[in-house]
Amino acid sequence: MTILITGAAGFIGSNCIHFLHQTTNYSMVNLDALTYAGNPDNLIALQNSPRYTFVHGSILDQELLTQVFQQHKPGAVIHFAAESHVDRSIHDPEAFIQTNFVGTFRLLEATRSYWNSLDKEAKDQFRFLHVSTDEVYGTLGPTDPPFSETTPYAPNSPYAASKASSDHLVRSYHETYCLPTLTTNCSNNYGPYQFPEKLIPLVIHRALDGKPLPIYGDGQQIRDWLYVEDHCSAIYQVLNKGAPGQVYNIGGWNEQTNLSVVHTICDLLDSLSPKADGTSYRTQITFVTDRPGHDRRYAINSQKIHTQLGWKPKETFTTGLEKTVRWYLDNTTWVKRVTSGAYRNWISSHYGDSRE
Ligand code: NAD
Ligand code: TYD
Repeated sequence: MTILITGAAGFIGSNCIHFLHQTTNYSMVNLDALTYAGNPDNLIALQNSPRYTFVHGSILDQELLTQVFQQHKPGAVIHFAAESHVDRSIHDPEAFIQTNFVGTFRLLEATRSYWNSLDKEAKDQFRFLHVSTDEVYGTLGPTDPPFSETTPYAPNSPYAASKASSDHLVRSYHETYCLPTLTTNCSNNYGPYQFPEKLIPLVIHRALDGKPLPIYGDGQQIRDWLYVEDHCSAIYQVLNKGAPGQVYNIGGWNEQTNLSVVHTICDLLDSLSPKADGTSYRTQITFVTDRPGHDRRYAINSQKIHTQLGWKPKETFTTGLEKTVRWYLDNTTWVKRVTSGAYRNWISSHYGDSRE
């Protein structure tokens, strides 16, 4: 089977292509616009694989989408392409509405038109898997139960609102046109190839550079962290066993405060790459102004995917974080390349010079 995967030059998509390349015999077509977050180097190991094709282009380009469907005739779509960073959505929401909402709409339209042209058997087997986030559900109080698939949507950032809107569109294409859609709402991921604007790679990168480690507000915000490969295996299960029209929440059973995550990273770095002056990386921690509209707590109830599809994560936070820190220590050239040029300009325009 051929799968069209959008946005797979980014963090989760590239991990997913590596995972599916190793564990299945799928052929994969990666359609990616190569924004600042897309890096074809992430998939360089597959450049000679007959099962991997890269198409440079945007999901906003309806003509290109039609052409890609005609040429590759996918049996499924996995839709990762998005603007994904909350801080950027606060600074400049326009691109989030364009890619996450309008882009998803164009992709759904191209998919619908292609799907309508298939014979009955191919139509029944086809799947459109939309990769979304737990942020659509808003924020939890300390004793609230974790988000389930029936928690009402209450997005608090332009990023979360744009993803929530795209989830609604996907739902409507199932209800109205019977398109066999699947939606996953996953918690925060971490692991190799994550752009160092997100908390975990940002802290590793800045710690090693001897820079302050910025903690927003009091650092007591809670996220439910999942190792990226576990997210990939969940997507595989949903693609193969999920029921059309259904939503599956994916989480790590791993709630951590931001401060605790940063402490753990510092402790790992202290043992794996100790500082020459003998001080701990923890001394670089700095509390900075909080993010506007900052969600206090996310937590996912993954019972449905666990009981219905038999999925559970392999990594614990201890094993996953150690793998991640080691990967960043071993891949400093990758980090240097992605943090040059445009990344530096964004850091100084959004956060000011205090970050440098
Ligand atoms: P990312 O920012 O690392 O990658 C996004 C990719 O999409 C990049 O390769 C980029 O070039 C591409 N892209 C952007 N606009 C495009 C367009 N118009 N057309 C084609 N490609 C385009 O994001 P990520 O962290 O890998 O997240 C992937 C998906 O998973 C997103 O939809 C995100 O909302 C969702 N998600 C992410 C997390 C997380 O913790 N990172 C958690 C849950 C869900
Ligand atoms: P982030 O990685 O941006 O993911 P999200 O906003 O999608 O959860 O941030 C994770 C948490 O870390 C979030 O509560 C914000 C916080 N944070 C900081 O405290 N400092 C930082 O420099 C960044 C980027 C995030």
